[in-house]
Amino acid sequence: MRTPVVAANWKMNKDLSEAKSLVSALLADYKKANTEVYIAPPFVFLNEAQQHIKDSGIQLAAQNMNAAASGAHTGEISSSMLKSVGASTVILGHSERRDIYGETDAQINEKVKTALAADMQVIFCFGEQLEERKASTHFEVVKSQLASGLAGVDAEAYASIILAYEPVWAIGTGETASPEQAQEMHAFIREYLRTEVSAKVADQTRILYGGSVKPANAADLFSRPDIDGGLIGGASLQADDFLAIVNAAS
Ligand code: 13P
Repeated sequence: MRTPVVAANWKMNKDLSEAKSLVSALLADYKKANTEVYIAPPFVFLNEAQQHIKDSGIQLAAQNMNAAASGAHTGEISSSMLKSVGASTVILGHSERRDIYGETDAQINEKVKTALAADMQVIFCFGEQLEERKASTHFEVVKSQLASGLAGVDAEAYASIILAYEPVWAIGTGETASPEQAQEMHAFIREYLRTEVSAKVADQTRILYGGSVKPANAADLFSRPDIDGGLIGGASLQADDFLAIVNAAS
């Protein structure tokens, strides 16, 4: 039995007072249950957020990380910095990092290896573009992103990896993949793990869906056999919406 996961990716939203209000609102109504819950605020709020959530059962994640350990990388953040403020989970490979900032599979793979070597947990994101879905190459694209982004990761290390399938055409668009489309891809990903890694890894790895998950569609998505929770953008910025999604996974 896989423990469900719901993670909030705040992206580049909120100022400090808004971030504090959102955390307070989450803590006021959050009831610890079976689901693992993460919030990923922007870097500058991680330390403050951790002070508030540390005994709540909600865990802290970062939205990105540099592959280098330290040094002359102006504007960048390392794994040890993240861990020192209580973020031992990091989102890597998000489509916005790939599309807007040009991160390649090879660069993402470096980051994944750095995070794993630092004993961090990785939420590894991937997913096809609209044109790729229309051209029916989405399975091929996802397979290639998994093969390159997770190259060199051994079977044991998958215990520290959560996968997040986020079809780019469904992110922030209000257009969700149907539960059938999502389940079809999640089953494909699990089969990929079974053939390329191991049956145990296939059975144990949590595979999240991301892309316009809302309270209204969460329960249907999460009821599918291979969908183990969600990575939530827009709806994670409102405490009641996010908590409704968390409850839908429990
Ligand atoms: P939305 O939920 O806003 O579509 O964003 C999904 C996402 O990109 C989470 O990482």
